[in-house]
Amino acid sequence: MNKITIIGSGNIGLSLAKGLVNKAYCKAEDITLTRRSLKSLSEEAAKGFKVSDNNKVAIYDANVIVLAVLPQQLKKVLDEIAPAVSPEKQIVVSVVSGVTCADVREKLGNNVQVIRAMPNTAIAIGQSMTCVASDNASDEQVDRVTRMFETVGAVVTINEDLMTSATALCACGIAFFLRAIRAASQGGVEIGFHAHDALKMAVQTAKGAADLLLQTQSHPEGEIDKVTSPKGCTIAGLNEMEHNGFSSAFIKGIKLSARKAGGLYND
Ligand SMILES: NC(=O)c1ccc[n+]([C@@H]2O[C@H](COP(=O)([O-])OP(=O)(O)OC[C@H]3O[C@@H](n4cnc5c(N)ncnc54)[C@H](OP(=O)(O)O)[C@@H]3O)[C@@H](O)[C@H]2O)c1
Repeated sequence: MNKITIIGSGNIGLSLAKGLVNKAYCKAEDITLTRRSLKSLSEEAAKGFKVSDNNKVAIYDANVIVLAVLPQQLKKVLDEIAPAVSPEKQIVVSVVSGVTCADVREKLGNNVQVIRAMPNTAIAIGQSMTCVASDNASDEQVDRVTRMFETVGAVVTINEDLMTSATALCACGIAFFLRAIRAASQGGVEIGFHAHDALKMAVQTAKGAADLLLQTQSHPEGEIDKVTSPKGCTIAGLNEMEHNGFSSAFIKGIKLSARKAGGLYND
């Protein structure tokens, strides 16, 4: 039986909770949501979720404790729940960027099984790319957490030392692709479309490109070759973007985000 307590029910915590219920992974009454401001959870309470502003009490019945507060809020939460965590019956799942499993255990005790998960905001529509890692949890518990996040998107299990890289590529990555779509729509306006049409066209074109790769399992360059005829307009546009640093800017941005993601907890 899954009893889940989500500590920090903001963007990610709430999206996870709603996704799990929508996909029938568990019932709303099996999930306890916490926040300091309880009135912000009145809508969720009305939908059947248990809500609490007392983290220590809220984890009492849980098999799975999800930590979803901001990195700078985590130390206080860990100090609060440490005396109440029961390692024999509970696992701890942290989605907090930049915090290692060892950081969490340092506060909760060495015998607690800790699994890190790095989802992105597409979790709200069941389309997250979630990376999962642990340095001490059993395969059974990692499988369990993988199944939980598979109900709200795709999951890749990685080594924990790649977690900050996963944060940059997948969690921050949502913003990078969104900005690329906005840029495309701005280009569309310059060449004659009204803003709302240009945005709709850019969004569907981006979705089509992603679905092409997902459904055909092909490589981006293979698909690009199909649209770049010799002396054609696509290769001209593409090369102009590259001369202006398109791929280079993307790669450099991802590398900088990864460096920043590593320092969020302790800086
Ligand atoms: N957003 C993303 O794209 C993304 C992706 C992957 C991972 N993450 C990670 O997920 C975590 C949450 O991000 P978010 O975007 O969901 O942030 P958020 O919307 O600010 O949510 C954090 C929540 O924690 C609650 N909170 C703060 N202190 C608390 C406490 N002591 N006890 C209980 N609840 C508390 C806050 O509500 P109150 O102020 O009412 O307490 C707030 O609702 C972060 O660590 C982030 O690094 C985020």
